[in-house]
Amino acid sequence: MAGVIRRIFLTAIFFHVKYFADTAAQWNAALFKPASQSSPSNDSHLAAKFGNDGDKRDNSSRCVQTGFEEKPWWQVDLQKQFIVESIIFTASQTAFNKTINYVIEVHESPPNAAGPQAPICNTEYNVSNDLNHIKCRDPKKGRFVRFIQLTQGYLQFCELEVIVSGQTSYFKATKSLQVKAILAEVVLSRSLLHCAGQCKNHRALWLCNAFNWFTKSRGCEMLLTDPNDLNKTSHLTTADVNFYIENFG
Ligand SMILES: *[C@@H]1O[C@H](CO)[C@@H](O)[C@H](O)[C@H]1NC(C)=O
Ligand SMILES: *[C@@H]1O[C@H](CO)[C@@H](O)[C@H](O)[C@H]1NC(C)=O
Ligand SMILES: *[C@@H]1O[C@H](CO)[C@@H](O)[C@H](O)[C@H]1NC(C)=O
Ligand SMILES: *[C@@H]1O[C@H](CO)[C@@H](O)[C@H](O)[C@H]1NC(C)=O
Ligand SMILES: *[C@@H]1O[C@H](CO)[C@@H](O)[C@H](O)[C@H]1NC(C)=O
Repeated sequence: MAGVIRRIFLTAIFFHVKYFADTAAQWNAALFKPASQSSPSNDSHLAAKFGNDGDKRDNSSRCVQTGFEEKPWWQVDLQKQFIVESIIFTASQTAFNKTINYVIEVHESPPNAAGPQAPICNTEYNVSNDLNHIKCRDPKKGRFVRFIQLTQGYLQFCELEVIVSGQTSYFKATKSLQVKAILAEVVLSRSLLHCAGQCKNHRALWLCNAFNWFTKSRGCEMLLTDPNDLNKTSHLTTADVNFYIENFG
């Protein structure tokens, strides 16, 4: 099946044929959403956007580091109100401090605006920087999630996932399209639904937010791709492959 790599405006050829919804699951709503931090790092390779780029590798070049300051923080705008259930924090093993104190706030409106105190998802003292899955004490409604280190220093980590419920997640399909993005993993799947479920599982090195589904061979190519950059992503027009990308209802 000869496909030709083309770089054209995907918007022109995207032909959305099918949606399927996943209402039961909880998923990461932070991926590729606008992120900011209290102050920049000296090193531009350690910018806020690397805190939710789906790349969990502790590679010092695609992680987050703030400046040295009192109570440094990192924040993501989920762009919609969600019910925040928990946070998955992937530490940087090269962090200066092996223990940190933190508080996680969930705001309905931008945190700088005057208003009531933000609901606290969770707060801990003297915890290991390896800390991983942090459940909110109670699910918290909000759009802006802020992770604040309570002590002076650098805030450092590699990925922060915001696990939400309360909104439908679905995969938007484009027929006869195979996108060439970061390959998180390739598996054979029982079904399209199984492939989608596999994508939603938390992956070790790269998260997955899209996949190529090979309709005949049942191959499931799990992908990590920035939806804002789909224009720039190489792709093939391939008869037996459909491309699916995650969206929120
Ligand atoms: C960042 O720059 C400041 C001022 O030059 C310096 O004191 C500090 O050690 C630097 N931090 C890192 C992590 O390189
Ligand atoms: C860091 O990233 C490079 C390529 O981006 C990769 O070859 C290397 O194995 C990574 N190192 C670690 C320790 O993950
Ligand atoms: C955290 O640990 C430091 C140093 O061991 C200690 O001085 C401080 O009291 C602890 N803070 C809390 C809130 O437990
Ligand atoms: C490490 O933690 C201590 C105690 O909280 C703090 O005083 C120090 O500034 C931190 N160092 C860095 C580099 O973040
Ligand atoms: C794709 O590129 C065109 C031309 O640069 C731009 O107008 C359009 O907004 C882009 N679409 C997306 C989804 O980025």
